[in-house]
Amino acid sequence: MKVAVIGTGYVGLTTGVCLAFLGHEVHCLDVDERKVAELKAGRVPIFEPNLVELMESVGGRLQFTSAYAEAIPEAEIVFIAVGTPSQADGQPDLKYLRSASESLGIHLKAPFTVVVNKSTVPIGSGNWVEALIRESQKAHGRHSEFAVASNPEFLREGSAIADSLYPDRIVVGADSGRALEMLYSLYRPVIDQSFAAPAFCPRQEGFASVALVSTDLASAELIKYAANAFLATKISFINEIGLLAGRVGADIQHIARGIGLDSRIGSRFLNAGLGWGGSCFAKDTAALSATAKEYGLGMEIVEATRRVNFNMRERVIERLLDTLKIIKGRKIAVLGLAFKPNTDDLRDAPAIDIIRRLKDRGVIVTAHDPVAMERFRHEHADLAGMLVDSSVEAIQDSDAVVLATEWHEYREMDWGALAGTVKQKNLLDTRWALDGEAMRRAGWNLLRLP
Ligand SMILES: NC(=O)c1ccc[n+]([C@@H]2O[C@H](COP(=O)([O-])OP(=O)(O)OC[C@H]3O[C@@H](n4cnc5c(N)ncnc54)[C@H](O)[C@@H]3O)[C@@H](O)[C@H]2O)c1
Repeated sequence: MKVAVIGTGYVGLTTGVCLAFLGHEVHCLDVDERKVAELKAGRVPIFEPNLVELMESVGGRLQFTSAYAEAIPEAEIVFIAVGTPSQADGQPDLKYLRSASESLGIHLKAPFTVVVNKSTVPIGSGNWVEALIRESQKAHGRHSEFAVASNPEFLREGSAIADSLYPDRIVVGADSGRALEMLYSLYRPVIDQSFAAPAFCPRQEGFASVALVSTDLASAELIKYAANAFLATKISFINEIGLLAGRVGADIQHIARGIGLDSRIGSRFLNAGLGWGGSCFAKDTAALSATAKEYGLGMEIVEATRRVNFNMRERVIERLLDTLKIIKGRKIAVLGLAFKPNTDDLRDAPAIDIIRRLKDRGVIVTAHDPVAMERFRHEHADLAGMLVDSSVEAIQDSDAVVLATEWHEYREMDWGALAGTVKQKNLLDTRWALDGEAMRRAGWNLLRLP
């Protein structure tokens, strides 16, 4: 099918590349001309494992452009995958969605187009996008048939390709049967798992089909928010139990295993520690609460989940104060900047929050990340002076090390040798990434969260 994807960020680019890989003809469109120039030159502006390889494998089926006139008129299906960042009141900022919809009104031309919201958008956005397109069509003397659908995205940065090719489910919501039919056709190779798996991203044995949830627009929109809120709640729940476990002398790792083996609970997203960050959980839980407020409802569990999560960042400072007593003027190394390993995404990364809190308290911070330092320099220029070229350099002469993101490289370091390079052997492993016994044998005072 002929497809256009508006927005070539983490979601749009992955979607475009994967659809081209499945055999569709895809135009990826972005208003950021620098990004488009990079992509045209075969370079991927984000860090996502295997995305370059998959992009190289699809050849001419994938085109990049910054011109709506080039990507949209021929497309049978148009995905909107623009950003929907949080505003101060928790509501997502929909200016990119508005702008994309208005441009669609000018350029839609095919006999029938399905416009698909893949961005995470508040309930009712499907109707809103439809109205914006119609208004824009009217203003520009245009008319063509279209229907709006919702197809929320569940991929995780760092494993975006596997999540797109082998998802747990596909959710499509629309009030038009024709739109739903076209989306089934588009996703048929994924639903039936009928494509040849790429060598670098093999299919798990026995994985033969993908569940399809087809529903109305509002339900599809709410499924996305509910899924993220539930995952965020699991993490905050185990952290809250972890706080009590610390007081009563219980082991949170054993507790997580002990409850996670209950199939009704499940063991994933029960990792105690620094808590969640990233571009989605904070934004989407805030949006869910803000929407509920519009209807006179309080999202009490979601609000508590947020509070518990953000308190974990202050807890890092508390642990350092407990241990060092005075942190002003001390040297503290922060390892890991990205909000999780295998991505360079710094949006709502806990490490950055921690660095700012340390800086405000007069700490001399050194920081390192295996892949996100270039982005950090660009997005947090005021903190760029803290960056050093290697983790070894960051740690040297420090009074404490905070492991904020559990990159493989940090797990594998020679912590025994590093113990000889620091001023004080305090190591706060906020992600439970290191072997406690081995660290203690190497002489480290190993601290953990919560
Ligand atoms: N990143 C994730 O892991 C993830 C996962 C699931 C859902 N989502 C949702 O998907 C959406 C996109 O997220 P992202 O992380 O890919 O964002 P992103 O910021 O990485 O990318 C958005 C892109 O849209 C482009 N854009 C903005 N306005 C445009 C316009 N009018 N026309 C064309 N391009 C335009 C921007 O230049 C940017 O390149 C968000 O709603 C997000 O909540 C993200």
